[in-house]
Amino acid sequence: MGIKNKMRVSVRIMKNKISRFIKKKNKSKIISLTAYSKNIASIIDKHCDLILVGDSLGSVLYNFTSTKKVTLDMMIEHSKSVRMGISKSLMIVDMPYNTYRNPKEALKNARKIVSQTKCDGVKLEGGKKIYKIIETLTKNKIPVMGHLGLLPQSAKNFKYKGKEKSERKVILRDAKLLEEVGVFSIVLECIESSLAKEITKSIKIPTIGIGASIHCDGQVLVTDDLIGLNKISARFVKKYANIEKHINDAVFKFKKEVIKTQFPQKKHTY
Ligand code: KIV
Repeated sequence: MGIKNKMRVSVRIMKNKISRFIKKKNKSKIISLTAYSKNIASIIDKHCDLILVGDSLGSVLYNFTSTKKVTLDMMIEHSKSVRMGISKSLMIVDMPYNTYRNPKEALKNARKIVSQTKCDGVKLEGGKKIYKIIETLTKNKIPVMGHLGLLPQSAKNFKYKGKEKSERKVILRDAKLLEEVGVFSIVLECIESSLAKEITKSIKIPTIGIGASIHCDGQVLVTDDLIGLNKISARFVKKYANIEKHINDAVFKFKKEVIKTQFPQKKHTY
């Protein structure tokens, strides 16, 4: 098969995956989590509809105080690893800060992300300010996920959004605008509950909430937060496991056995 035909086939496969994802709205809740590596991705893949390689990796893995320091190369390398662990979920990659300042830059970088990581689409933060940029990507057949509410790449504070009437109007308008320019879904981060409900009812594409109430079509969390590997205390995080304790116990046992020369045994030795 020639390169052009191969590209056509992969665009068609991508389109089918995206349209199956959109059809989940009003049918079943959408499950989404982050992954930054193959091992985690392969565990969560069977449970998820969408796996996000989030730029939250900056704070979770690299201790950055802001996602602004995350680079395109970091996102691409982590995404290549994640790709190896996914067989069924939609894989979406965050475009990091300063990689989509204008349509030309965004298209060049989004194409680089898609071609090098084989992801199914990219996520960009923002509404009216970037809708021309998003339109350029969707017109060029790059699936885009939107992100509204609290926008970590540009936030001045980390307060929830939608308390003020004027702010609510802007976020609702932005959600409709993003739908118009062809995003296939929108992450709503830290949005007041009734606003999340209104947005979810007002658009035909799925909303995925993080700190945005039960009214969203689906939920997303940072996996490291959910499994208790990342020390974070935020209202919207629920810790479902304490992996830190399991790692501690295993490492302690290993150390004890090495000291007592109980490990390695004959069966571990050549
Ligand atoms: O970067 C990220 O992980 C995200 C999710 C929290 C939605 O954007």
